[in-house]
Amino acid sequence: MFVRNAWYVAATRQEVSDKPLARTLLNEPVVLFLNGQAEICALEDRCCHRGAPLSLGEVTSAGVRCGYHGMEFDRSGRCVDIPGQERIPARAAVRSYPVVAKGDYVWIWMGAADKADAADIVDYPPEGDGWPCANDMLHLKASYIMVLENLMDLSHLSYLHRTSIGSSENDSAKASIDVRRTDRGMRFLRVMRNADAPANWTKRYPTGPKVDRWSDFEYVAPSTIKQYSGGVNAGEYDAGVREGAHLVRTLHAVTPETEKSCFYFFNKADGYARFEPPGTERTWKSTTDVFKEDAFMLEQQQLRMENFDEGRLMDINTDVARVQMIRVLKERLSQEQPSQEMAGAK
Ligand code: FES
Ligand SMILES: [Fe+2]
Repeated sequence: MFVRNAWYVAATRQEVSDKPLARTLLNEPVVLFLNGQAEICALEDRCCHRGAPLSLGEVTSAGVRCGYHGMEFDRSGRCVDIPGQERIPARAAVRSYPVVAKGDYVWIWMGAADKADAADIVDYPPEGDGWPCANDMLHLKASYIMVLENLMDLSHLSYLHRTSIGSSENDSAKASIDVRRTDRGMRFLRVMRNADAPANWTKRYPTGPKVDRWSDFEYVAPSTIKQYSGGVNAGEYDAGVREGAHLVRTLHAVTPETEKSCFYFFNKADGYARFEPPGTERTWKSTTDVFKEDAFMLEQQQLRMENFDEGRLMDINTDVARVQMIRVLKERLSQEQPSQEMAGAK
């Protein structure tokens, strides 16, 4: 069960072109494309005649023509041409979805169209910071909830990302965590003071072996997280020193494909080596490499969750932000569908 009345990233802008893009979102087959007037279109990917995928057809000026018997649909989903037939019945139509291009993404609304308000789409990137950024996406055989949960318990960095961005177990255990509710979700700040620099930083961080590092995660329900992370010399965090800081930010937008799979879109930005292209390239590559470590673990976790009873799972201290996030997500779902349980959300 998914929150439907929300904006999800359907694709990057680059992915949507005059060639139909087929993508299953929240268990529904969707076709995305730019019609001949360069308008973004998102239609149910199932022709109302005999059920052929419209993504196998061709884009027209108004919309798309089915590749099987040639019915044409405009961007509202209305059939505008039936070959060899004058009269077009009113029910000759497929569902269309509200779509908006904002930032680097095409956002889609899978719920009641009359509730869609583009003003609710997450603002990203922040205006004017000028950090070079790049998009990436991982298609995971794991629940989108697991991806969000992964980001809400950073104690995994010391184990899963030991050789890249993880701090030592001791430093991680001493991290301070502050969790707060916000209007649209929740936020948590995790700070490690006087910690060893992680393996990935040592080449770029010659000023000393000890650092203060922080991660500021803002969850915007149901499926978006804005992350700001950074590091300074030990002692500088509380003094407010940010000059020369190691700074990165990431937008995580996790769109369910099914209950057991998702599209993990991320936009990674470098505020540290922003005037040094090779350094920025290294930061981007390292971000994707780290997320692939997550992806591997999450897919293995998904297999276990499918085969064994979720009821025997337990929480530990480091789950504090994860538990709060799940609470927000469940509240959001129950507002929309009071009688429904969310699959996979404990
Ligand atoms: S299935 Fe699309 S026109 Fe026949
Ligand atoms: Fe991770």
